Amino acid sequence: MSADKPTTDLTTSSTSTSSVEHHGDHVPERFENPGLPPHVHRMGDTDPAAAKRSERQVVALFTLSIIGTIGFVVAYFAVPPGETVASMRLSNLLLGIGLFLAMFGIGVAAVHWAKTLMSDHERVEARHPQKSDPETRAGAIAALSEGAADSGIQRRSLLKGAVVSAVALAPLTIAVPLVGEVGGDWNVSKFRHTLWERGRRLTRDPSGTPIKPAEVTRGSVYHVIPDGLREADHWIEEKAKAVVLMVRIDPDQLTEADDRKDWSYEGIVAYSKICTHVGCPVALYEQQTHHLLCPCHQSTFDMADGAKVVFGPASRPLPQLPITVDDEGYLIAQDDFNEPIGPSYWERLK
Ligand code: FES
Repeated sequence: MSADKPTTDLTTSSTSTSSVEHHGDHVPERFENPGLPPHVHRMGDTDPAAAKRSERQVVALFTLSIIGTIGFVVAYFAVPPGETVASMRLSNLLLGIGLFLAMFGIGVAAVHWAKTLMSDHERVEARHPQKSDPETRAGAIAALSEGAADSGIQRRSLLKGAVVSAVALAPLTIAVPLVGEVGGDWNVSKFRHTLWERGRRLTRDPSGTPIKPAEVTRGSVYHVIPDGLREADHWIEEKAKAVVLMVRIDPDQLTEADDRKDWSYEGIVAYSKICTHVGCPVALYEQQTHHLLCPCHQSTFDMADGAKVVFGPASRPLPQLPITVDDEGYLIAQDDFNEPIGPSYWERLK
């Protein structure tokens, strides 16, 4: 077998057919080792103009990353999320494009650089035990040093400037939002209250039409928002806190704590839609079991038993919204939730 072809140690194989010695007879290898195909030089290896072209392409990709990072930072300050869905979408879109270009530019530039400009020597390495000896480790360090030298970063000053700039600026896409939040609104008391209050009607999301008990059919799940939500200040934030899921359950199947027996209405129960694990909207209702599943980490709540956790990482039941009907027969809240909605936070007392 020639020295430049990978070898296979057949004497240690567990199958008798691939063994070198089988009952004393010589068994030939099943497949001939094809070895490596002939080496094909890249254009840049033989043509300096092609190498220069590749270098320009790599610089352009790093520059794209720089533009993406700058665009991200500009968008972060110039296009805040605002109060409307459209402005939030625009802000997210611009931040997403900036982040994508920043990361994509660096990633593709690195790959293109490696494939077109770095050393193209082909080597065959024999397999060896995972634990390497000191000599091998020293060899690895030497190989890394050689790779660094092969990258040509010392000779190509333009490339060096581009890669240093792109890599140095890219962390801004994470740092700027973090720093921006330092001066933000950290008043957690706003999590204690939602728009729900005594007498506020339950309305359909997103139409805002009020709901009568007779319209709530068994087996269906209703996505509910407070009446007058759109007129509230920061209504998007208020909606994020106040969203509710409502279902009708056969009163015989309903388990209610003594102090909550009047929180439902004719089997209709309403619970916060915000998961108590880390705040995803729970929305998958299974009408046979009355289980409500959070799609993020599969916490499961029993709507027929106080929305208690029956599976998953959530540690508390979903807060219940006490409901009744008004004089016109529409479903209304009796009060706000009696505990903060959503996941735990340090200042939370219950
Ligand atoms: S956010 Fe609901 S299970 Fe994690």
